[in-house]
Amino acid sequence: MPADIRRTVVIANWKMYKTCRQAAEFLDALPQETRSERRVDLVLCPPFTALETLGHALRPTSVALGAQNVHWAEEGAYTGEISPLMLRDLGVTYVLVGHSERRQYFCESDETVNKRSLAALAHELIPVICVGESLDQREAGHTDDIVYRQVALALAGVTVAQIPKLVFAYEPIWAIGTGKTCAADEANRVIGLIRHRITSLYTPAAAQAVSILYGGSVKPDTMSEQMAQPQIDGALVGGASLEPKAFATIVAKAVGSRQ
Ligand code: PGA
Repeated sequence: MPADIRRTVVIANWKMYKTCRQAAEFLDALPQETRSERRVDLVLCPPFTALETLGHALRPTSVALGAQNVHWAEEGAYTGEISPLMLRDLGVTYVLVGHSERRQYFCESDETVNKRSLAALAHELIPVICVGESLDQREAGHTDDIVYRQVALALAGVTVAQIPKLVFAYEPIWAIGTGKTCAADEANRVIGLIRHRITSLYTPAAAQAVSILYGGSVKPDTMSEQMAQPQIDGALVGGASLEPKAFATIVAKAVGSRQ
């Protein structure tokens, strides 16, 4: 199956930035052509508090709403958590799972990444499963093993039919928020390994159907080289997604690379 059957996806991860008012201002400042772009899938992931405001504002656009985390239970005594049903209720269609900041600061484990992914799929939310190695792990030569392991553990219990309904993001931790982008050919190599892992766990067709993104200091001027790589299907963008002009340029480069 050729790579061009996969959807190209560009996701803004706003992390803990933007109030409701700032989220609305971002959308007002986003060029109309970006708001109505259909050639690539665009997703904005604001903090939970801005989901409802942004969800309303996104209705007349072709941009999807994403959340930054999800609990696996539908409801219960889990103070501070948000369930998949609550996200669906607000029109959320994508959810980030296992971002390295969750793994690093909030005790996210491969097991909870798996539980969140299964719950998202069961509720027809698209999990964007984030994997990637730390600098120490890379320097010790463990990148491939770490990524292989994270992919396999995240997918425990996921059926072959569900594989095309999820997205992976390769985000080397040392590249996140540091301005040090992973070289495009190296990101392409690791993303190829992720696809290889999915092939060995499922089928080549399933692996070819999954969009796998690169994330880590993506900027307007790193996009074209990244998108020229055959394994890379889009970007998960943190810092540069906070600014409408920069984000619109990143989207335009993703679109340009697919024409
Ligand atoms: P960055 O963040 O683009 O600011 O490096 C990416 C991410 O954390 O998803």
